[in-house]
Parts: sequence; C-alpha cells; structure tokens
Amino acid sequence: MEDFEKGKLVSSGKAKSLYESPNPDYYIMHYRDDASAFDGVKKESLEGKGATNNKFNAFIMDFLEKEGVPTHFERLLSENESLVKRLEMIPVECVIRNIAAGSICKRLGIEEGLDLNPPTFEFFYKDDELHDPMINEYHIESFDWATENQVDQMKEKTFQVNEILKNLFADAGMILVDYKLEFGSFKGELLLGDEFTPDGCRVWDSQTREKLDKDRFRQDLGDVVESYQIIAKKLGMEQIN
Ligand SMILES: Nc1ncnc2c1ncn2[C@@H]1O[C@H](COP(=O)(O)OP(=O)(O)O)[C@@H](O)[C@H]1O
Ligand SMILES: [Mg+2]
Repeated sequence: MEDFEKGKLVSSGKAKSLYESPNPDYYIMHYRDDASAFDGVKKESLEGKGATNNKFNAFIMDFLEKEGVPTHFERLLSENESLVKRLEMIPVECVIRNIAAGSICKRLGIEEGLDLNPPTFEFFYKDDELHDPMINEYHIESFDWATENQVDQMKEKTFQVNEILKNLFADAGMILVDYKLEFGSFKGELLLGDEFTPDGCRVWDSQTREKLDKDRFRQDLGDVVESYQIIAKKLGMEQIN
C-alpha cells in the first residue's frame, strides 16, 4: 500500500484522527491504539487495536457497499489509515439492539441477554460532556441536526445494515447484539460514516455467548484486541494482524 501524504490534522477524537488529504473531498482516517469507555473516563492504549480496527472496518464497509449501503469508505491506505469521503457529520448516533445489553439494561431495568423482537432503535446526541443523551427525531429536527428526510434515511439504512450484518455474523457463528452507526452528508447524499468495528458494536459467540467486543475492555475481561481478531477471523478476514 502506498504512503499517502497526510495533510493538516482536522480533528482528533477518542480513537481516531482525521487528516486532510491531497483531495479536498477526502480525509485520511487514522485509527489509533487508544481505547476509551464511559465517555472517555476509562482510557488505555491497546497495542494493535488501531490496525485491527482499520482493517475490520474496511471489510465491513466493503461488504455493506456491495450489499447496497452507500458509505464514506474509499480504500485502505496503510496499516492504520483509510481514505474516506469528507462528510458533514450529523451529531447523532443510531443504535439498533437485537439483544439487551449495556445502557438499555440499566435504563429500563432489564436483564442482559433478553431477545428484543423486533429490534429496538434509538437515537443519541453525540456529546461526551452530556454523556450522549438519548433523543428522538423531534429533537433532531428542532435543533436542526438533520432534516426529516435524513432522519428517515438514517433509520432505514440502520435497519438495512441490521439485516445484512445480522446474517453475516450468524453465518460465522456469532450474534450481533447491538451496534452504533454515524451518518453524514456528502454533496447532498447521506452516507454511512465513521466506523463499524468491535469498538462500536457488541458481538457474542453464538454457542458460548462469550463477549468478543469492547465490553471486554469496559468490564476488564482481558484479551481485547485478540477478541477483535477472533471476530475478524471468524468473518473470514485475512491478514488482520
Ligand atoms: N467521513 C467523515 N468525515 C468527517 N468526519 C467524520 C467522518 N467519519 C467520521 N467522522 C467523525 O470523526 C470522528 C472520528 O473519531 P473518533 O475517535 O471516533 O471520535 P469521537 O471521540 O467523537 O467518537 C468522529 O467525531 C466522527 O463523527
Ligand atoms: Mg467515535
């Protein structure tokens, strides 16, 4: 892979940094080794996470694109970098849950592992200081974070992703418990942005229900990056590490 000249640092989030690229329509997304949880309160560096997530995301975004979901992903540039379309991000997280885990259990007093049929859909406002509060479509429109049409598309595309990825994971012996997506607009078109990696979803082994995602980090279960690589291997990704 070529060494694509990185320009100015545009932003640095909890796990990734964005740089300008020679083409103003594209950014270079750099996946760092930083791991964070609980709105950035728990932080650690996990060797190899950046490279693992970079390749994991590339595989999933390619797969989604082939299945008809337009994404910002262009191509891998290096171990830790990908070329992506420069989006105007909507500051909202779209979450689908197939099984109850994480914040919904606390919020609604339900046990982890409950089947959610049909799956639930939730919007959260992306703001660490406010602890990403749950919102609904009225907030999104009232505060002008997105249009009604974009809201409809975000919901539709997030469910479309569920149909595609639930099966992909199931066929590989895993359960896609839940996941978070972020969208943005590119020249008027709504595209799936950010990342799809084990940092932003929950994945359990179908047989043992062992957690293979970022809950290993949140709950100090160990072997975080190793587990991400187990998911990758089960999905048939080559050369992830
Ligand atoms: N294609 C894109 N164009 C512009 N911004 C993007 C794109 N994809 C993701 N982003 C934004 O870049 C940041 C990615 O870095 P990350 O470490 O995940 O940040 P955060 O701590 O905000 O989650 C996020 O704020 C995300 O919304
Ligand atoms: Mg993020």
